[in-house]
Amino acid sequence: MPGVVIVGAQWGDEGKGKITDLLAERAEVVVRFQGGNNAGHTIVRDGKEFKFHLIPSGILHSEKACVIGNGVVLDPSVLLGEIDGLKRRGIDVGNLRISANAHLIMPYHVLLDTAGETKLGKLSIGTTRRGIGPCYADKALRLGIRVQDLLDEKILRTKIRAALEPKQQALRELSVQRRKLRKEAGEEAEKDSSEGAVGAVPDPRLDLHTMTEEHVSFGHRLEPHIADTAKLCWDALDSGRTVLFEGAQATLLDLDHGTYPFVTSSNPIAGAACVGAGVGPTDIDEVWGIAKAYATRVGAGPFPTELEDEVGEQMVERGHEFGTTTGRRRRCGWMDLVALRYAVRLNRMDSLAITKLDVLSGFAQLRVAVRYRSKEGAVLDSFPYHQSILHSATPEYEELPGFDAEIGECREEADLPQAARDYLRFISEFVGVPIRLAGVGPDRDQVVWLDS
Ligand code: IMP
Repeated sequence: MPGVVIVGAQWGDEGKGKITDLLAERAEVVVRFQGGNNAGHTIVRDGKEFKFHLIPSGILHSEKACVIGNGVVLDPSVLLGEIDGLKRRGIDVGNLRISANAHLIMPYHVLLDTAGETKLGKLSIGTTRRGIGPCYADKALRLGIRVQDLLDEKILRTKIRAALEPKQQALRELSVQRRKLRKEAGEEAEKDSSEGAVGAVPDPRLDLHTMTEEHVSFGHRLEPHIADTAKLCWDALDSGRTVLFEGAQATLLDLDHGTYPFVTSSNPIAGAACVGAGVGPTDIDEVWGIAKAYATRVGAGPFPTELEDEVGEQMVERGHEFGTTTGRRRRCGWMDLVALRYAVRLNRMDSLAITKLDVLSGFAQLRVAVRYRSKEGAVLDSFPYHQSILHSATPEYEELPGFDAEIGECREEADLPQAARDYLRFISEFVGVPIRLAGVGPDRDQVVWLDS
């Protein structure tokens, strides 16, 4: 099956990197198609931990082409840091290909992200502050700088100049507003990282000359990797070779179909693989969804099954639920099958992988949300499209027996405790998709392939 998409089925951090790494064994090309260094993939191989933010998880397979597609937003300094880090650990990155059409996260995008969040105050989204939203906004405004622009200093300077001016203006206004608010509140002037962008002394991070020079040098370093990556995918697909499309973030963070406005600024769903890599819908043969055995969310926004009690705390501890990118503590809760069924349909998933099943061992009872109840008492079997309904929906649970045994050594379905198998079966039957794989620990080989 040549075109295989992997997507997150919840709010991100489901362990897509590990599953991509496993499925990459039968692929020739691994492509990331959206998002940027807001993502964080951790892969543990032979006890060694690898963390990636931009580079596709397939990079550990030196014989496969590893592609950053046109739909990704790329911070060149972060990418070069990852490349250097991998080289230091002896990993060959000669197979990394970067779309010439991918957009660049510029220093002003990062400043704007922080300034925007600060301005929103209590209403903030809880972004990763990596400049993702402002970069995608510039792309849509046609003020974006693309990877190919790095290769022509004159074009680069002209484009940066055009993009920079409105940013300086916006940052100045945001800073004036912030100072005014602080003054009104009688607070001491405390600077945040976007503050230097204004004031009497020009911020060196926003200097046209410095920015252009720096990015020309980034271009020199990235040039060997820049390619027509859509064509690379077509060539592989047309000759029957498998291409793996690796999603970042997840379905419920999708700009159109997630819990807007508490979402990311791209489309992490399977349909977006076509746009973000440059292939057609009929190039996609198979869609895999990845879900944790429970649910987590980082940042603000509705999360019906969230547990703000000891059980949630145990999940944080047992699952080491702290963000790869920002280190923030993840909110934890029970598996939400209403949301999962929505994700299954939206992505038209063929298969599910359930990760971190081992984290659930030790809970006497396991709960899964099977419907919501609105505040007026109506039963909601489907994921509500209306923001206020979702915000006030309370989940109703089915209780299933828990299991005590540690399952990290299980490799066959029959090794798993009956309660763990029943738990997986319940999920699979409820959402109508086979679970093909269960993760039982962080290491690459800690998986159980299922027959269902
Ligand atoms: P942004 O993508 O940095 O703009 O953040 C928007 C929302 O998406 C915030 O709630 C982030 O916490 C969340 N988010 C972005 N990337 C990830 C991810 O890789 N995993 C989990 N949440 C993410």
